[in-house]
Amino acid sequence: MDGRANTSQEQVLLVDDNPTNLQVLYKTLENSGYTLLAARDGEQALSIAAKTIPSLILLDIMMPGIDGFEVCKRLKADPATASIPVIFLSALTDTDAKVQGFELGAIDFVSKPFQGEEVRARVNTQLRIHRLEMELARRNAELEDENRQILNAVTESIIGLDDKQRVSSLNPQAERLLGRPLSQCIGKPLSELLEFTESRERVSSALAERRAIAVEQLDVRSLPGKVGATVAMYGSPLEDGGMVLVLRDISEWLASQRALSAAQDELHNQRQHLAHMERLSTGGEMAAGIAHEVNQPLTAVSNYARVAQRFLDNSEIDRKKLAEVLEKIVIQAQRASDVIQRLRSYIRKPTAEGRVPLDINTVMQEVVMLAEVDSRINGVDISFDPMPDLPATRADDVQVQQIALNLIRNAMEAMRDAPEGFGGVQVRTYKENDFVGFEVLDRGCGLSPEMEEQLFSPFVTTKEGGMGVGLSICQSIVQAHGGSIGYRANPDGGAIFYCQFPIQ
Ligand SMILES: Nc1ncnc2c1ncn2[C@@H]1O[C@H](COP(=O)(O)OP(=O)(O)O)[C@@H](O)[C@H]1O
Ligand SMILES: [Mg+2]
Repeated sequence: MDGRANTSQEQVLLVDDNPTNLQVLYKTLENSGYTLLAARDGEQALSIAAKTIPSLILLDIMMPGIDGFEVCKRLKADPATASIPVIFLSALTDTDAKVQGFELGAIDFVSKPFQGEEVRARVNTQLRIHRLEMELARRNAELEDENRQILNAVTESIIGLDDKQRVSSLNPQAERLLGRPLSQCIGKPLSELLEFTESRERVSSALAERRAIAVEQLDVRSLPGKVGATVAMYGSPLEDGGMVLVLRDISEWLASQRALSAAQDELHNQRQHLAHMERLSTGGEMAAGIAHEVNQPLTAVSNYARVAQRFLDNSEIDRKKLAEVLEKIVIQAQRASDVIQRLRSYIRKPTAEGRVPLDINTVMQEVVMLAEVDSRINGVDISFDPMPDLPATRADDVQVQQIALNLIRNAMEAMRDAPEGFGGVQVRTYKENDFVGFEVLDRGCGLSPEMEEQLFSPFVTTKEGGMGVGLSICQSIVQAHGGSIGYRANPDGGAIFYCQFPIQ
C-alpha cells in the first residue's frame, strides 16, 4: 500500500447488517473523494477486507453471525489486515463496550444514529492519520534500509550495547569479529563474547560508567578464545543509556607499517653504507696530497733528529739547544699525526651516537684543514671566514664534514683552470632565521642551465673519472637532518653552494 496514493484511490469499507443504515452511511460519505465498499455481515466484511485492504473500515458491532468485535479481532490477527484502522459504529452507549472495542484495536467510535458531519469528520481525520502513518512507515523502512546498507558497507565492526552492557546490535563485521551471528550474541554481556587483552581496566570502567573512550591500539579476542585481532576502538554513550563501540581492525595496517619501517631502516643502512664508500673513495683520491702532507713533517723530523745526533758528538752537550731541537721534532711529528688523524676520522664509519650538538665553526675548521691537503697539490687556495658565536645544530659531525669536503673539492676542481688573480675558494659560515650553515664560493667555470637542473641527481658528472654521486649523497644527508642544500650563481662568475641545518 502506497501512503502517497492519491485519495481517490483510497477505499473505505462500510459494514452494517441493516440496509437502511448502510444507505445512510453511503449517502453521507459519497463524493468525499474515496471509493466506498459495502458489506452486509462479518464474513463478507472479512473477505472484502482481505481482498482489497481498504484504508478504513466502519464496522457495526451488533450483527448476526460473527459480530463486529469478532471481525475486528480477526482483522487484527491477520498481518495483512492488521494495520487497517477500524471505526466502530454503535448504538451502544455503555463504556464497557467502548473499552472492549478500543482494546481490540479500534481507533474510534461513531454513535448511532449518525450525524453526517460527525461521520465525515471522523472518517477524514482517521484517513489522514492513516495516510501519515503509512508515509511514516515507508520512510522508516527506507531509513532502516539505508542504515543497514551503511552498517554493512563500513569496514569497522559496530557493536551496540544496552544499559547493562549487553549486546543489542551487531553489523556483519562485528559478527565476524565475535565469530558468531547476532542471534547468538543478542542480550549477552559483551564480557562473555569479547576479551580485551590489554587496557582491560580502562575499557571496562569506561563501559560501566558509560564514558566516551578511544584506544588507538588494543588486542581483542573473541570468546571462547577463537579469533584474535588488533583494533583501534572508539566507544560513545547513547541517549538511551547504552553505548556504541566501533572497532577498526588494524592488524594489516600494523603489518604494513612494520614492513615499511623495515624498508626504511634498510634504506637508511644502504645510504650510510654508500656515504661511507664515498668517503673512502675521497680518501683514496686524496692519497697523493696526504702522502705529500705527511712527508713534509717526516722529512723535518729526520733533519732535526740528525741535528740532535750531532749534538751528541760534542764533548759538552748544550742541553738547552738539544731541548729546543727535540721540541721541534715533537711538533713536526704531531703535525704528521694530525693529518693522519684527520683522514682517519673522516673515513671512519658513522658512530652509534649519530647526531650530537655541533658547532659548525669547529667542524668547518677541521674540514678546511683536511681540504688544504688537496689545495696545495691543486694550487688553489682556501680561505675560511667563520661567523663568530653561532648557535649549535644537531648533526652527525662526520656527515657534515663529508658535505663540506665535497663542496670544497668540487669548487677547487672547478677553479683548477682559472687564471691567476682569481683568488681561491672561500668558505664562510652564517646564521639565517632558524638555520646555521656554510657557504662555499668559487670563481670557476660555473654551471650550465642543464647541469643546474640535474645537479643533485646521482651519476651526473662532467668530470673524466668523476662518479657524480657526491652532491646526491650530500642532499640525502642534509634532508635527513631537516636542512637544505642549494646552488646559486656567483655574481662575480663561478658558483656558490650553501648548506644549512636547523638550529638545535
Ligand atoms: N662548484 C662547482 N662549479 C661548477 N660545477 C660544479 C660545481 N660543483 C659541482 N659541479 C658540477 O656538478 C657535477 C656533479 O658533482 P658531484 O655530484 O660532486 O660529482 P662529481 O664531482 O663526481 O662529478 C660535477 O661533475 C660538476 O659538473
Ligand atoms: Mg664531487
